[in-house]
Amino acid sequence: MAKPFHLAWFTSFNPPAWRSPWGGVSGEEWMTGEYHISMIKQMERAGFDFIMFEDSTMVSDAMGGTEELDLKHGLHSPKLDPFPMLPILARETKHIGLIATGSTSFYPPFILARVMATMDHLTRGRVGWNVVTSSEDIAAQNYGIDQLLPHDERYDMAEEHVEVVKRLWESWEPDAIVMDRETGHYADHTKVHRLDHVGKYFKVRGPLNMPPGPQGVLPICQAGGSPRGRDFAAKHANAIVVTQPIVSKMKEYREDIRARAERFGRDPDDIKVLFHLSPVIGETEEEAREQHHRLFGMEDPLAIEKVLAMTAAVTEIDFSAYDLDAPFPQDLTTNGHQSVLQDLMDRNKGKTLRQSLSERAQLGPQVIGTPTSVADQMEALMEEVGGDGFLLLAAPHTRRYIDAVCSGVAPELQRRGLVRTSYPHQTLKENLLAF
Ligand SMILES: Cc1cc2nc3c(=O)[nH]c(=O)nc-3n(C[C@H](O)[C@H](O)[C@H](O)COP(=O)(O)O)c2cc1C
Repeated sequence: MAKPFHLAWFTSFNPPAWRSPWGGVSGEEWMTGEYHISMIKQMERAGFDFIMFEDSTMVSDAMGGTEELDLKHGLHSPKLDPFPMLPILARETKHIGLIATGSTSFYPPFILARVMATMDHLTRGRVGWNVVTSSEDIAAQNYGIDQLLPHDERYDMAEEHVEVVKRLWESWEPDAIVMDRETGHYADHTKVHRLDHVGKYFKVRGPLNMPPGPQGVLPICQAGGSPRGRDFAAKHANAIVVTQPIVSKMKEYREDIRARAERFGRDPDDIKVLFHLSPVIGETEEEAREQHHRLFGMEDPLAIEKVLAMTAAVTEIDFSAYDLDAPFPQDLTTNGHQSVLQDLMDRNKGKTLRQSLSERAQLGPQVIGTPTSVADQMEALMEEVGGDGFLLLAAPHTRRYIDAVCSGVAPELQRRGLVRTSYPHQTLKENLLAF
C-alpha cells in the first residue's frame, strides 16, 4: 500500500472553463472571488494541503506576433493578481494553505517580503510563496526590463533575492515586541536588525518595517525543471510542483531532487514533490473514456489553436510558423522554459506537431475512470514513485469537475487512509511537513 500523501490544487485567478456546458459562472462572479471561495471550501473538506495560484503578467503575442489568440481563448489574460485573494480565501476557511506566485525578476525583495509577511499575519500562518524567475520578455517589458537575464543567470538572481527575503523575515528577533507600558517601549531596537545588503543584483538596507508572520520564514514552493532550476528548488523549496507525463519520469525526478537536497545538507523529507494530475472522472469507465476523448481528442480546431498558443507562450516559440502535419521540430531553442521545450522535443520525436498536442493539453500521467478506479490509479502511482502527492489541475475548470474530485475521488482516498482528514497544526508549513 502507498504511504499517506498530499493533495494540492493548481489554479489561476482567471475565468473558469466558460465554453464547457458546466462552466456557467458569470464574469462578475469569478472576478469577485466567489468562484474560488466555493472551490476552496470543498478542497478543505476534501483534505487538500493547499491551493496554489500560478501567475504571469502579460498578454501573450507568441503566436504570430499578435495578442489575438491569447485574448480570444482567455489564456494569459484576463488574469487577476492572486495576492489580494489569499486573505479573502483565508477568511472563508480555517486550515487549508494558500500559495501565490511572486517573480524574483519583477518584485523587489523588500516589497515581496513585506506583502507576504503581511499575508502571513492576516491568514494566521497559512501562506506560502511560489518562487518563479519568469520566462517571458513581454512580461519583463512591463517592468522597464527590455530582456530577461539568460535562463541560468535568472536563477543566480533568484538565489540572491530569496536570501534577502529570508533575511528580511529574520530581521526582527521573535521577542522584539515588548509592549512595556512602564518604560513606554513598543519594540526593542536592539532586537531589530538592519541588513545593509549590497549584492550583485540587489541593494537593501532593511530591516523589514514589521515583524514576520507566524511562520517566520514562509514555506517556499518551486517548479524548477532544468538542472539549474532543480538545484534551486532542492536548496530552497518545501513543496515542489512538477509536470511529468509518465511514472518512470516522475520517479526519476523525485529521486534526483532528493539527491540534490542531500548534497545541500537538507533532509529530503522536508521537500514534498507534488505531481501534476488531471484525472478524467466519470460515473462509469465508459463515460470517463468518452469524456477523455472529448477533452483531449483534439478534434476541435479551437482546442488545437488553444494548446498551440499556450505552448507558444511558455516556450516563446511561434508555432504558427510550423506545419501541423510535419514532424515535430527538433532544433528549437529558447530563453523561456527550457526544460518544457527540451521535454517536448524528446517526447515527440517521430510524431507530428498535431499528434503532440493531446498529451500537451493533458498535463501529467493519464488517469481515467470512476472515482474508485481513479483512486486506485493514484494509489498505484504513489506506490511506484514513493511520494509525495499530487497537484490537481481541473480539466475542465468547472464546479462539476471540482465536485468530482472533492466529493468522489478525495473521500475514497481518505477512506483508505491515504489523504488527511484533519489538519493537526495551525500553519501551512507544519501541516505540510507533518508527514
Ligand atoms: C506546476 C508548475 C507551476 C508553475 N507556475 C509558474 C508560474 O506561476 N509562473 C511562472 O512564471 N512560471 C511557472 N512555472 C514555471 C517554472 O517556474 C519553471 O520555470 C519551469 O518549470 C521550467 O523550469 P526551469 O525554469 O528550471 O527551466 C510553473 C511550472 C510548473 C511545472
